[in-house]
Amino acid sequence: MRSDNLKFPVSGLTMPNRYWLAAMTNQQSHEDGTLSDDEFTWLKRRAEGGFGVVTTCAVHVTRHGQGWPGELGAWHDRHIPGLSRLAKAIKECGTLGLVQLFHGGARSPAKLTGVQPISAMDGSPPGEGGNGEEPRSAREDELLAIIEDFAAAAKRVQDAGWSGVELHGAHGYLLAQFLSPRYNLRKDGWGDDAEGRWRLLLSVLKAVKSATGPGFAVGVRISPRNYEGDGVRETLDALKLVERLIAEGVDFIHLSLWDSFRHDEDDPEKVPVLQKFSHVVSGKCPLVVAGGLRTAADRDRAFAMGADAIAIGRAAIAYADWPMLIEKDGGQWQPAPPPYPVAHLRGQGLGDAFIRYMQKWPGYVSDPLT
Ligand SMILES: Cc1cc2nc3c(=O)[nH]c(=O)nc-3n(C[C@H](O)[C@H](O)[C@H](O)COP(=O)(O)O)c2cc1C
Repeated sequence: MRSDNLKFPVSGLTMPNRYWLAAMTNQQSHEDGTLSDDEFTWLKRRAEGGFGVVTTCAVHVTRHGQGWPGELGAWHDRHIPGLSRLAKAIKECGTLGLVQLFHGGARSPAKLTGVQPISAMDGSPPGEGGNGEEPRSAREDELLAIIEDFAAAAKRVQDAGWSGVELHGAHGYLLAQFLSPRYNLRKDGWGDDAEGRWRLLLSVLKAVKSATGPGFAVGVRISPRNYEGDGVRETLDALKLVERLIAEGVDFIHLSLWDSFRHDEDDPEKVPVLQKFSHVVSGKCPLVVAGGLRTAADRDRAFAMGADAIAIGRAAIAYADWPMLIEKDGGQWQPAPPPYPVAHLRGQGLGDAFIRYMQKWPGYVSDPLT
């Protein structure tokens, strides 16, 4: 049972329990990035369901940084009314609402943005890190503008009444493209060494913190393995980055692992990645972990390995009330694994656009949308 609260050291905010709704792209926003009723319902239901933190999907900070169709934006004042409506509904449940801010970089397709994607380098990141279009290396003036875009977006989010933002440095999007020792080989101060590769994220963090001020949580999400082949070297680099982020006054570190208990394939000692991070982060700021957590046993194992809060993704899509159910009857509840029928997902507050998107995730939805 983990219904005890968790304090964020920098903002002073308190999360009412240890259950965190992971950021999830759901493709339900209007084409111009404004909030739809379906996106409102999906997230409000999770706040009502007992999540102590509810995070939005990845929200683009500039028009050209959009990664997916139907994605929420925070790059224009026109986005504020929808963001305010959602922030108020989440707050009324006693839940902390976070907006996840991002720029897609190499993963912002021209068919959405109308422009060639930019990234750390000319040419696509390894594996599936691009979108099939060759990005070009971003100029310094463009990077400085993007830092300002993050700050302006965060200010809009704060004005709209949210508790904080999560900077999306994970999953191979722009910030991760710059962080990567494998991909970012720039020689202009934005990639030469670790400090150079971290510069974009650290500059964004600083700009966001100074644009928003006290009482507003600013945390960072990272995934040490961004590209196929990443392993111990990237994890070590991420551990040093995390120390630096803590020194710069980050309010939480969110580790996205897909499998919360995994170790690096090239680690001869097979130490779980979560444990490595827990050694560095423990006691300094909350450590949140996401990846493959569905049952009470998963939850207990993640806490035993040093997580302070657990982020739930696919199990929370299927069960809006996951935190309440998991706390019931001493952890006896066994959530059904996927696939889930369309009628069940509709009953859990998903609109058809989100269900259609989930049909692309192998084995998640059991029947066609009619
Ligand atoms: C439909 C879907 C959309 C996602 N979109 C995002 C996103 O916008 N930002 C992000 O950081 N992670 C995103 N993720 C990753 C989740 O936040 C989470 O880390 C991942 O699903 C692993 O947790 P789980 O095993 O509990 O699903 C997404 C995952 C899913 C299933």
